[in-house]
Amino acid sequence: MPESGAKPARVVVLYNTDYDTEDSLPGIDASSVETSARSITAALEEMHYQVELVGLHGAEVFDVIRRLRESKPDLVFNLCESMAGEPCNEPTFAGLLDLYRIPYTGADLQALVMCLYKQRTKEVLMSRGIPTPPYRYFTTLAALEDPSLEALDYPWFLKLAHEDASVGITEANLVTSVGALRARATELMTTYEQPVLAERYIDGREINVTMIGNGEAPETLPLHEIDFAAMPGDRPKIVSYAAKWEETHVDYAGTKPVKMRDASAAMVREIERVGRASWVALGLRDYGRVDLRVDAAGTPWVIDVNPNPDISPDAGVARSAAVKGMSYAQLIDRIAQIAWRRIRGIG
Ligand SMILES: Nc1ncnc2c1ncn2[C@@H]1O[C@H](COP(=O)(O)OP(=O)(O)O)[C@@H](O)[C@H]1O
Ligand SMILES: [Mg+2]
Repeated sequence: MPESGAKPARVVVLYNTDYDTEDSLPGIDASSVETSARSITAALEEMHYQVELVGLHGAEVFDVIRRLRESKPDLVFNLCESMAGEPCNEPTFAGLLDLYRIPYTGADLQALVMCLYKQRTKEVLMSRGIPTPPYRYFTTLAALEDPSLEALDYPWFLKLAHEDASVGITEANLVTSVGALRARATELMTTYEQPVLAERYIDGREINVTMIGNGEAPETLPLHEIDFAAMPGDRPKIVSYAAKWEETHVDYAGTKPVKMRDASAAMVREIERVGRASWVALGLRDYGRVDLRVDAAGTPWVIDVNPNPDISPDAGVARSAAVKGMSYAQLIDRIAQIAWRRIRGIG
């Protein structure tokens, strides 16, 4: 540990390697976390940290914990998104780090749980008066027979209740009738074997709010939005799985992340306020991203809270930081220092 204690000296970058097990689920590509971990390692080395890269599959979790307890790094850069093929084990790992008092970056067990179970995220947001679209949560196929679904103000939008990275999102998730809702929700529940959330569809701009820091007033980095200009007119303006991951797909070109343009100062302030309120409500730490869609009346509705967003060099967090003049290495250094100050109670 450096004498000054101004920043951590020895950092372990820890990521999950359970892609083989996750391959059993359609459309999941977890190997991008390894690419991200390698970029973060290189960035930390560039900023003169002593870095070790450690992969975690799941079954050997206690060996990894033992190693960490022996080597006592100043900080673990925690990129563990799942263990043993289960994204639901992401919070478990953060809990184990807490149990053994191993200091780490990013959200804790509680925040990870609240965001992993999207119906819980929405309950928390709603309880605080933060705008998030009205929703229904389906855990059984029988629940889809509820006659009240006929009276919803369609269009609505379907998503898996415990996924991120647009897994399971296609144009079929935008439903304009109860028949379409039931058919697509049935398909999602049977294919992915998990509950489904239906939300009112918000037609409008999609904004990403990246925040770094701690406490009640994290710093918001320059807002970004999805530019749908190149999306063919007959396709819905959504970030589908293909839009995110299939570079040759028409949706990929049709969902270009850009710096937010032509927004009034009042609109920017309101979006940042809602972003920060969501951060506080869910208890995010160090870095995070909130996604919103702004309707015709100018209301920003929270559609997704990401306590562990992608921080690879070509993802949204790094893009936002770049607009602020921060290089990738500077961003990663900043996050390490933010976590370090929080852990030492000086942030
Ligand atoms: N209520 C909604 N109204 C309109 N579009 C939505 C809504 N919810 C999600 N989407 C679209 O689907 C994409 C993925 O949904 P999201 O909730 O962010 O899931 P993920 O956790 O997979 O990122 C969003 O980026 C957005 O384009
Ligand atoms: Mg999202």
